[in-house]
Amino acid sequence: MEPSTSGGRRIITRAAELDFAFSDLPTRPLEVRVLMADPTHFDVLYVINPHMAGNVGNVDRGLARRQWESVRDAYASVGFPIEVVDAVAGLPDLVFMANQSFPGQLPNGRWAAILSYMHSPERRPEVDVVAAWYRARGAHTVHLSDPTLPFEGMGDVAWVPGRRAIVGGYGFRTHADAYPELATLFDVPVLTLKLVDERFYHLDTCLQIIDDRTALYVPCAFNQEGIELLQQAFPRLVEIPEEEAAVGLACNGHSPDGRHFIVHRGARRTVAAVRSLGLTPIEVDTGEFIKSGGSVYCMKLMVP
Ligand code: ARG
Repeated sequence: MEPSTSGGRRIITRAAELDFAFSDLPTRPLEVRVLMADPTHFDVLYVINPHMAGNVGNVDRGLARRQWESVRDAYASVGFPIEVVDAVAGLPDLVFMANQSFPGQLPNGRWAAILSYMHSPERRPEVDVVAAWYRARGAHTVHLSDPTLPFEGMGDVAWVPGRRAIVGGYGFRTHADAYPELATLFDVPVLTLKLVDERFYHLDTCLQIIDDRTALYVPCAFNQEGIELLQQAFPRLVEIPEEEAAVGLACNGHSPDGRHFIVHRGARRTVAAVRSLGLTPIEVDTGEFIKSGGSVYCMKLMVP
């Protein structure tokens, strides 16, 4: 059956404005590959989020590499081919590949990547590295019309799996003004959510969308309007305990296929919650990366 609505090309901020279900929207292909960046130069050299405080110079690089390999192997074990971008000296956060871009399929069927403008000057040079990777593969790259509007790619923006709709966070790293342009470029509705708790500075630390009906979230990261919008958008909205999400970045776990959930080890209640949703948890250790404020989801980018 043909989808009954496209959802419209617009910004939705409140539950009352949501007049469709994601499952009624046109479908889109899921990304099939995983892009990661070699962790050779991963480190904590500056503090740009609360998790990094106290951790400057405190990374065990050997352990970080083994942990990175375990994340890579977890994706491979569930059938995703991995591509790796070379490390660059002086770019310790390049390894967080979710942040430098936002790939998606344009209305004409072509894939494009929106390039980020990182909030912190320390991270801005990472974007050229990722842009070069896309261009070498013939992918189209796009800057927002204001190329210095803060925008941190998949750290703050997520496609609803399999549907032509986007959910975007703003407040710490990405500016809300980025979203009307994404709605126009991709011709999709964009649900926007204000982030209010600094520990959850990227949307991918407090919202994980599993499928077009199901999401995990951390309520204290959102305001009341955002919570109500999420409740309206996802019939199965599951709360992740604040402690597990703040300390172990449990909500930065990731389901690449709607069947498995790869997550930093030890999030007992989160693991129980994803099991009760019918997912198979895969626990990995990302402790060195958590010192920098990132875990599974932000260590990779899903690409077509
Ligand atoms: N140190 C990095 C930063 O603060 C960590 C980024 C983690 N990425 C994410 N999508 N949560 O920018």
